[in-house]
Amino acid sequence: LSGSTAYITLPSILIAGPPGAGKTALVTRLERRAPKPATTYTSQTTNIVELAVNEDGTSKYSDDLDASGAVAKKFLVVDTPGHGKLRGATLAKLTSASSTASDTKLRAVVYMVDSAALAEDGGIAAAASYLYDILLALQKRMGAGNSSKAPPAIPVLVAANKADLFTALPAALIKTQLEAELGRIRTSRSKGLLSSGVGADDIDSANESDEWLGEYGSKAFHFAQMREFDIEVDVVAGNVVGGDGSGPGVDKWWKWIADKV
Ligand code: GTP
Ligand code: MG
Repeated sequence: LSGSTAYITLPSILIAGPPGAGKTALVTRLERRAPKPATTYTSQTTNIVELAVNEDGTSKYSDDLDASGAVAKKFLVVDTPGHGKLRGATLAKLTSASSTASDTKLRAVVYMVDSAALAEDGGIAAAASYLYDILLALQKRMGAGNSSKAPPAIPVLVAANKADLFTALPAALIKTQLEAELGRIRTSRSKGLLSSGVGADDIDSANESDEWLGEYGSKAFHFAQMREFDIEVDVVAGNVVGGDGSGPGVDKWWKWIADKV
């Protein structure tokens, strides 16, 4: 366990998302610095790997920085299980970051989705509900605590994976469909608050706005509303599996991550 203290101090990137999105495939591909990921199985526990990028953030994921003798920035990638029953621990990592805001090294969240599964019935709804919980946790984190020092901003990358499949939805469509679904979830959850049997007078309006994702009272939800809480959201397509030319690969995601650590 002697290495565990290093986990606390290195900057970290949290990878979350629905089951089967390709999170473990991505992490094993980055860890091996190889074009092909390892064979993966449904994750039941969090898996942490240590990666490195050169100091100016320009090295490729496939570069062997040890061999080149370059000065490297080390960071951790935290691969979490997507199963619904195991999400509590992942969400707790985002929330607990708030209680120790000053010493947390969480730098960014990559929310990975299967772009082909999103085209199927219920795919968007399934991907959006977990994303809603994550964005709300990050939003609360920004508002939490009474210290005047705001916690560091945590950007979110929606990694639209499996772009190699012809059934994959394009990133622009994934963005608008997720926004629409997040808006629907927001509306239904706020109605839940109002109809929960508490009298209107009992509802603490500050409390209600705490549970509201994005700009309070706005009709439609847009990712841009998260900027108010210092949370930038990008949606970028890619693919972990599939050879050259079958899709955009992982380079844009790697660049995004390298810029945040
Ligand atoms: P959980 O651990 O259950 O949360 O899932 P996960 O997100 O870790 O998924 P995993 O990495 O195990 O990948 C699930 C399946 O998707 C595997 O069979 C991968 O080979 C496949 N897969 C991952 N990335 C891609 C991709 O870019 N394209 C295609 N076609 N398949 C992919
Ligand atoms: Mg996994």
